[in-house]
Amino acid sequence: MIQRTHRCGELAKQHVGQSVVLNGWVQRRRDHGAVMFIDLRDRTGLTQVVFNAERNAAVHRAAHTLRSECVVSIAGQVMARPDDSRNPNLPTGEIEVFVDAVEILNEAKTPPFVIEDEAEVTEAIRLKYRYLDLRRPKMQRLLGMRHAISQAARSFLNAEGFLEVDTPVLTKSTPEGARDYLVPSRVNAGQFFALPQSPQLFKQVLMVSGVDRYYQIARCFRDEDLRNDRQPEFTQIDLELSFVDRQHVMALMERMIVTLFKEAGAVQLPTPFPRMTYAEAMGRYGSDKPDLRFDMPLHDVTAFGAASDFKVFKDAATKGGIVKALIVKGGATLSRTRIDALGETAKSFGAKGLAWLKITAEGQLESVIAKFLDAKAFGAALPEAKPSDLVLFGADKPAIVHDVLGRIRLLLGEELNLIDKTAWKPLWVTEFPLLDYSPEEKRYVFMHNPFAAPMDEDLALLDSDPLKVRAKAYDMVLNGSEVGGGSIRNHRSEIQLKILDLLGINKEQAQAKFGFLLEALDYGAPPHGGIAFGLDRLVMLLGGADSIRDVIAFPKTQRAQCPLTDAPSSVSADQLKELRIKLDLVE
Ligand code: AMO
Ligand code: AMP
Repeated sequence: MIQRTHRCGELAKQHVGQSVVLNGWVQRRRDHGAVMFIDLRDRTGLTQVVFNAERNAAVHRAAHTLRSECVVSIAGQVMARPDDSRNPNLPTGEIEVFVDAVEILNEAKTPPFVIEDEAEVTEAIRLKYRYLDLRRPKMQRLLGMRHAISQAARSFLNAEGFLEVDTPVLTKSTPEGARDYLVPSRVNAGQFFALPQSPQLFKQVLMVSGVDRYYQIARCFRDEDLRNDRQPEFTQIDLELSFVDRQHVMALMERMIVTLFKEAGAVQLPTPFPRMTYAEAMGRYGSDKPDLRFDMPLHDVTAFGAASDFKVFKDAATKGGIVKALIVKGGATLSRTRIDALGETAKSFGAKGLAWLKITAEGQLESVIAKFLDAKAFGAALPEAKPSDLVLFGADKPAIVHDVLGRIRLLLGEELNLIDKTAWKPLWVTEFPLLDYSPEEKRYVFMHNPFAAPMDEDLALLDSDPLKVRAKAYDMVLNGSEVGGGSIRNHRSEIQLKILDLLGINKEQAQAKFGFLLEALDYGAPPHGGIAFGLDRLVMLLGGADSIRDVIAFPKTQRAQCPLTDAPSSVSADQLKELRIKLDLVE
């Protein structure tokens, strides 16, 4: 094989006249009779190579055998392209290489799809032939960006005195709220390892070990329902620090994310990141991860609802619920069909309905419920609503109203093109409740993870009103996506035990599940806290990918399968016997 002197994306004007060797894949062949053009591709880009019958009849003949995706080595001379054939859209568009020798290094079958960004191909086929899919420039760019973000994170954290420490993958289940992936132990028949949902417990133990500042680019495993931004196996930039409070962690992490975006994507995030409490975020945007690329806030009109004659509003407001309104600017032009469809969507989100009214150009209220409402009182309650606007209402328990209107807000933002897709809107959401109440399970459940510390001023509420206790927890949100989350932890075991007790985990259960952490806390655990970022989500946002699957080299499908390897798959009877596992599959 003739060794390459350059990569396919490297050659430019300054190389004109040089003899070069390129290795790569045949992207495309264009036959112009006595002249044949081939685009030669590698990870770095494309170069046009020219087989000219006049210059070299033998290589021109050989060029006829080159098919798409076969692997070749060419030697030739870099020439400036004639003015009329320059391609300003291609980094190598000023030059072309006239071929003097060609060697086919490998043939290729006709690929099931063309290796171009615009290829029309289903995801199932892309994932089955992932090695071909990853040849596409967009995928190469995303792999490169992922690499750049990991490297930038490492160099930032190294400079800040963090130690990179690996934690086990075969471990005990960590309570992060999802189902575990289990691994049977052959030598301890009947016992199972769990794959970590995160390195949470180990990183806290490392603080007790005096590691002081830990990080890891850690693989996490969660058996949960998959979505566009969720994979069963994903990667965190995970870290933990000793002797810090929330302000330290947030300030340092803000600097880190700003650095990563600048270094890996030349994006300047606006600083300082605004901070919003969980209560503010839910109240104003109906979400704990508000998308601030457009405003459209929720307005509280509970008092107006209570005083109105509309039964739905009145009942909600007098039974401890709330009434909130969403103003769609200029939305009075929306058709009745469209508004009814929004109502159906609201119902599918769990609302009982989605009352609406239009304000006519003359300022009249137009709606089936207008007869129950006092126009003047409405004007006073919601002065932000102007002629030609549409107002949508939710009336119910706060959790339902916020969730439904929050989701309608996002949907309208998308449908009405209100979202500035060029904007970067990071923020911190703070003061999450420590606990939530699960009506199905009739017990308290944790909001973040069971190790978050309560806010000092709320400690007394642990006994009197646990649901009011706020945690020293923080999430970083970017463009409506939760990119990271963490907290200051309980470094004293008595508070940790008390919280576990509230969660319905008694001392014995706690001992069985994470006794090692509780015990470690009693051997001089320093105050500590940390955070974990979803690396895949960061790459997805910075790289403008539509799906988390596009930023993972070998992802799982929505059904948690890998079409390339066909995992998961059955195992042999012998393997099961060794593990002393009997299957009892119920169809
Ligand atoms: P948490 O569970 O919030 O915190 O996870 C941290 C971040 O990881 C990302 N993430 C995911 N990304 C892709 N697919 C998934 N299934 C998935 N689940 C989570 C999100 C999220 O913000 N141990 C704590 C961190 C801590 O307290 O320090 C933890 O794991 O971007
Ligand atoms: P109804 O009186 O049930 O016919 O409802 C009148 C309007 O109020 C319809 O547009 C319903 O979608 C809406 N509506 C009903 N229940 C609620 C609710 N809980 N919140 C908001 N709107 C509602």
